[in-house]
Amino acid sequence: MTQPNESIAVELRSVHKSFREGRDKILRGVDIQFPRGKLTYILGPSGTGKSVTLKHVLGLLSPDQGEIWVLGKLLAELSSSELNQLQEKFGMVFQNAALFDGMTIFENVAFPLREHEKLSEEEITRKVEEVLKSLDMDGPYDKYPNEISGGMRKRVGIARAIVRKPEILLYDEPTTGLDPATRMTVDNIIEKIKTNFSLTSIVISHDIPSALRLADQIVFLSEGHVVFSGRPQEFVHSKHEGIRKFLDSDLLAYQALKMADAGA
Ligand SMILES: Nc1ncnc2c1ncn2[C@@H]1O[C@H](COP(=O)(O)OP(=O)(O)OP(=O)(O)O)[C@@H](O)[C@H]1O
Ligand SMILES: [Mg+2]
Repeated sequence: MTQPNESIAVELRSVHKSFREGRDKILRGVDIQFPRGKLTYILGPSGTGKSVTLKHVLGLLSPDQGEIWVLGKLLAELSSSELNQLQEKFGMVFQNAALFDGMTIFENVAFPLREHEKLSEEEITRKVEEVLKSLDMDGPYDKYPNEISGGMRKRVGIARAIVRKPEILLYDEPTTGLDPATRMTVDNIIEKIKTNFSLTSIVISHDIPSALRLADQIVFLSEGHVVFSGRPQEFVHSKHEGIRKFLDSDLLAYQALKMADAGA
């Protein structure tokens, strides 16, 4: 049981997880390292355990076997207050932006600051405006979520997730169900955050083109195992049957594969 080295923000070691008294074996010995400051995409077919993996990282589920290390700490050894403290270091971007409809853009982004920190109104205003501007959103910020576009709502959701400067940012299906233009907007934000903040980011997605374009590392889960972990250029050339099927299932993926080939 040795602590991962400094360059690893999160590590799963031989993680096993079953549900329904062991009848549903979802994770069957999962090993993943998430490098600090890098962007990792977790891909895989539906129902393969991607969200379950993310819940383990967050400490919302505990493994039947195996170890989960987050920022140098072994989760199983933490008290509940230590776990809460560690969870404060995560930002979470939900599939639908999950904004509060009754609050303005400003108040949505200010919410986590008001909940968790004791700041003056001036400081709150400064932080909220700073994060919104960093995501290319100019004021006024007194509109409500139903008065702005889907892409804007996404930005507000992301601003809310990063306003407290988390060390690790998790996205669960950030582009699923979005139109292509909004998808591109969200990709650009993910890229921007990767470039501008030294955040460790983990993205769960079905969006192959985004993963190929943005990921530092792709992890592919299939039937409870990590069957690939590496760079996008290697991923598109994988001979693994499940990965080929996954890639071939998507015309966009096919185009992206060609783009990656052209760039390789
Ligand atoms: N708390 C739970 N209790 C019982 N079964 C669960 C629980 N959470 C997840 N599962 C099961 O684990 C499997 C994997 O679920 P998970 O949500 O991780 O899939 P996923 O890879 O995220 O799929 P998708 O791409 O559709 O989001 C599913 O069969 C699901 O029913
Ligand atoms: Mg999921």
